[in-house]
Amino acid sequence: MTTPTIELKPSANPLSDAEREAILANPGFGRHFTDHMVTIRWTEGRGWHDGQLVPYAPISLDPATNVLHYAQEIFEGLKAYRRPDNSVATFRPEMNARRFQRSARRLAMPELPVETFIEACDVLVQQDKAWVPAHGGEESLYLRPFMIATEVGLGVKPANEYLFLVIASPAGAYFAGGVKPVSIWVSEDRVRAVPGGMGDAKTGGNYAASLLAQAEAAVKGCDQVCYLDAVEHTWVEELGGMNLYFVYGNKIVTPSLTGSILEGVTRDSLLTVARDLGYEAEERRVSIDEWQADSENGTLTEVFACGTAAVITPVGTVKRADAEWKQSDGEPGEVTVKLREALLDLQRGTREDRHGWMHQL
Ligand code: COI
Repeated sequence: MTTPTIELKPSANPLSDAEREAILANPGFGRHFTDHMVTIRWTEGRGWHDGQLVPYAPISLDPATNVLHYAQEIFEGLKAYRRPDNSVATFRPEMNARRFQRSARRLAMPELPVETFIEACDVLVQQDKAWVPAHGGEESLYLRPFMIATEVGLGVKPANEYLFLVIASPAGAYFAGGVKPVSIWVSEDRVRAVPGGMGDAKTGGNYAASLLAQAEAAVKGCDQVCYLDAVEHTWVEELGGMNLYFVYGNKIVTPSLTGSILEGVTRDSLLTVARDLGYEAEERRVSIDEWQADSENGTLTEVFACGTAAVITPVGTVKRADAEWKQSDGEPGEVTVKLREALLDLQRGTREDRHGWMHQL
C-alpha cells in the first residue's frame, strides 16, 4: 500500500494572533479547534489517496452515508506538548497508530500505515504550531485522528470507502475541577463491553454505550461511571473514557487487559514510569468487593483514573448501590501526585526521556 504524501493547502484566513491567544488563555477541553485539519481517503481497489492539509471546516455527507447508520467509526487521542526550548513533541504517537490499526481490524476497516498516521499528525501540528500552549502549564494540544465509513447506502457490510481525518484542539484539564478528586458511581448492572465484543477498540459506539450509565452517575451526584465485567458483574474494568489504577502503599495495580478494556497509552506508560520511580506495578483482576474492603481497612491508599485527556485524576468518593466510601480526603494522594508529575515532566521535556517516547517535530 502506498503512503500518500500530504498536500498542503493552508487557510488564507486563519484566526488572528489575538483571537488564538484569547482561546489559549482558557481552552477548556474539546471546545475550540485549530485552523487546519488533515484528510486522507481510502477507496477499495485504490487504497489510501488524496492526503491533504486543508482549512478546518465542516464536512458534507450524504444522509445515507454508512457511518451515520451503522457506526463504522474509530478514533484516537494524543497530545502535543511545548518544550522548554519552544520546540514541540508528541507522546508515543506510534502506540496510538498501532491501536488505530487494531481498532480498524476489529471494525472491518482498512488499516492506515503507522508512518502515515504519524505523518498526518506531524503535518497538522507543524502547520498549527502556534496553537500548542506555552510550556510549563497543564495545557497541551489534543489531537483527534479518526476514520469514518463514507460509502453511501444502507446495506450492512464493511464500506468500500473511508475518510481519515485529524483535527486538533487546545486542551486544559478534562474535568472542570482540574486535579481535584472525582467521584465515581459503580454501575453494577449496566456494562460497557462484553467478551468478544469491541471494548478494546477505540470506537464511538463504546462511548455511546457509556452515556446512559454516565447520566445515571450524574443523577447519583458523581462525575464518572465505573464499569464492572459483563459476565460476573464483579471485576473492575474501566471508567467511561479512562483506565483505573489502585495504589497499595508502594505498589500500583491496574485491571489486566481482558479484551473488553481499552489498552490505554497512559495506562501502559504508567506501568513503566512507576517502575522507574521505584514502585512495584502489577496488572491483575481487582474485584469491586476488594476495592471497597481494602479502602475501608486502609490497605488501598489511593485510586486514580488515567487517560490522554484526563492525564491522571484522583478518585475521591465512590458510590455503589448499597455502599459509599471516601477514597481520599479531597486532595490527591502522594503516589498519584508523584506519578502525575513524573509523566507530565517527561511529556513537557523536563525529565529524561529514557524510553524514547517523545516524538520531536
Ligand atoms: C482520551 O483520553 O484521549 C480519550 O479518548 C477519552 C475521551 C476524551 C473520549
